[in-house]
Amino acid sequence: MTSRNDELFEQSQKFIPGGVNSPVRAFRSVGGTPRFFAKGAGSRVWDADGKSYLDYVGSWGPLILGHADADVVKAVCDTAALGLSFGAPTEMELRMAEKLVEMLPSLEKLRLVSSGTEATMSAIRVARGFTGRDTLVKFEGCYHGHADSLLVKAGSGLLTFGQPSRGESSSAGVPADCSGHTVVLDYNDIDQVNQLFAARGGQSGNEIACIIVEAVAGNMNLIKPKPGFLECLRENCTKYGAVLIFDEVMTGFRVGAGSVQGLYGIKPDLTTLGKVIGGGLPVGAFGGRADIMDQLAPLGPVYQAGTLSGNPVAVAAGLKTLEKISAPGFYESLTAKTQRLCAGLNAAAREAGIIACADSVGGMFGLYFRATPPTSYAEVMQSDKEAFNRFYHLMLHEGIYLAPSAFEAGFVSAAHSDADIDATIAAAARCFEKLTGN
Ligand SMILES: Cc1ncc(COP(=O)(O)O)c(C=O)c1O
Repeated sequence: MTSRNDELFEQSQKFIPGGVNSPVRAFRSVGGTPRFFAKGAGSRVWDADGKSYLDYVGSWGPLILGHADADVVKAVCDTAALGLSFGAPTEMELRMAEKLVEMLPSLEKLRLVSSGTEATMSAIRVARGFTGRDTLVKFEGCYHGHADSLLVKAGSGLLTFGQPSRGESSSAGVPADCSGHTVVLDYNDIDQVNQLFAARGGQSGNEIACIIVEAVAGNMNLIKPKPGFLECLRENCTKYGAVLIFDEVMTGFRVGAGSVQGLYGIKPDLTTLGKVIGGGLPVGAFGGRADIMDQLAPLGPVYQAGTLSGNPVAVAAGLKTLEKISAPGFYESLTAKTQRLCAGLNAAAREAGIIACADSVGGMFGLYFRATPPTSYAEVMQSDKEAFNRFYHLMLHEGIYLAPSAFEAGFVSAAHSDADIDATIAAAARCFEKLTGN
């Protein structure tokens, strides 16, 4: 019997490059056919063949309330009935901005956009406009969307101090002129940051406009910042007048009510948001210090715009989501569920004698096929990718949908019940056993 997923994938490849509208959906890393989803409700999704899965992807993070939350869907429908877009200000955008400022005290002013990519590229532009400097510092393995200057993953050879940086883009189609202002350092390497600023941020140079960082990294699986790492970024940016940007597109309202900055007590100059703040519809935001944000047109010389920025239907989904996650006890419950999942996965792996472990921050978790949670890009690359791929397909067969790559974080939603978590742990235990060949 042919699978409807197979049929749809074959047809899609005729019209859409790789059959998908975003590369990681294509299952290239794990092999096999991507599942085409027809329906989602709470913690579950159903594919085109009618098979249901417990979902730990949650549309790559936004669905913190689970699929088709009734209140969010109602807010979207009610708002849509009043008009889909105006290209003019609405009261709801103001309420959304007020709510975000209330929830994240580092935001004095903010702009709404339609994606995380737009948020990060706009934050970098305003940081450069504010400082009058060009150099951007990022960390290997951190993903900040697909703007030209951010698609750079150069190794430590780039740390040739005193030379103009020549970032090597990890994508074709990015002119060297765009990537050449990007310096890439190793995540969690405090010495490299100090050395770079000492060499390039001082009197003679003063060329570093900003650092952008996933303060808890989620795009090379989940990696936590080492003690002192975020503090070191803050200190150097303050000392040398560079702008510290926390990219909280993934972690914003995912790791806790105060996001990473609240959890670790570090105040960035600018923050980028996406995913959760749209509740499943396209919303991003960037904001922070008023003196920096006031550089934006129409007040200042930095241009940034968007036809659908602050779209009412998208904002309705986002605002309702923000209201619901503000309920007392929301993050305690989400964090406890995610910790329960990780404890169960750790025990199951140990029991089966499989070298794998899990770790979490708030509602976000990592599963690593290595002995201990990684602290750097180099360490995460040492995971047993083959073992993950086999585990992935065994779990898929069990009806558990994980991100189709060994290098992605997972997400638990408020809709996941304890029974869902227990069923997932039991499935993982069976899959680990199968990996051992028993
Ligand atoms: C940390 C981070 N920044 C930026 C982005 C880009 O967001 P978007 O895919 O909405 O453009 C992502 C997407 O996964 C992300 O995880």
